[in-house]
Amino acid sequence: MAVTVSLINMKGGVGKTTLAAQLAHAADRQNIRTLVVDLDPQSNLSQAILSPEKYVKLLKDKKPTVSAIFESYLPPSNSSDSPKPVDIKDVIIKKAGYWADTTLDLIPSRLELSHTLKNPTSKERRLAKALSKISDQYDLILLDCAPTESILTEAAYHASRYALVPVKPEFMATIGLPLLARSINEFKYENNDHSLDICGIVFNHSSAYSEGPEGEKSIKEVKVEAKKNGWNIYNTHVRYSASYPKAAREGTPIGSTSYVRWEVTNEFSTFFDEFLKSIGLKTIP
Ligand SMILES: Nc1ncnc2c1ncn2[C@@H]1O[C@H](COP(=O)(O)OP(=O)(O)O)[C@@H](O)[C@H]1O
Ligand SMILES: [Mg+2]
Repeated sequence: MAVTVSLINMKGGVGKTTLAAQLAHAADRQNIRTLVVDLDPQSNLSQAILSPEKYVKLLKDKKPTVSAIFESYLPPSNSSDSPKPVDIKDVIIKKAGYWADTTLDLIPSRLELSHTLKNPTSKERRLAKALSKISDQYDLILLDCAPTESILTEAAYHASRYALVPVKPEFMATIGLPLLARSINEFKYENNDHSLDICGIVFNHSSAYSEGPEGEKSIKEVKVEAKKNGWNIYNTHVRYSASYPKAAREGTPIGSTSYVRWEVTNEFSTFFDEFLKSIGLKTIP
């Protein structure tokens, strides 16, 4: 059975999508059978994995997306005029990764997912149920969440064993953390048969040199909050590098972007190893 991890922070722009994409590529490189699920109507992860061009083609071809899992029916397509019940296999894009021998699969998103947000009643377990049917075909499933708490967050909790929390060391970095703690605790209280833990907090967008007074202060505050809740903080910080947005634009792993500095690639791979350890996964030779 795959280990399922959600990337969550109630704050936007902290690197959830960036790290989800890069972790997926890193896992793929190491022959870890990985599925990434884009749970954000903004669909940035789908674009970062497929490249924006291929993503636009997917929309044009009316390929089903994660919405279909929540709505339980595939929308009418060219081949059939009436909606038909969804099979999760219909929404998976196979071999969506970068490497020639890729086994990275993707469940993409699209803006229509916001329909689920408007009509959320009793849909929160559908994703978990769908993923459980294919979980034995993967080692790792990564879910990229939208920042706002919604039915989609709850669906991610139901489907996940762990939550990975990226934090940007800046003013107000801690703002989403008490909310997250409360949200996870409430979920655990309501669903005491389900194990859900934070595997760790990772500082992203961090500086390779000094964080400066504001950065240092926010790191301290996050550490206090983490200690209070018993959360792990990864030793490796993921630094700011223009190669991350570039990799997202090109749909490539960070190490395959042109002019990337080896320290950046190296650092990410050290973080990746720490991450794997924290969720009890070993690399497969
Ligand atoms: N380590 C990093 N170095 C440089 N830019 C980054 C880094 N992490 C994220 N970014 C950029 O910051 C912006 C927000 O990141 P994103 O992953 O979309 O955050 P979230 O999914 O949490 O909203 C994006 O433009 C992304 O390319
Ligand atoms: Mg995002």
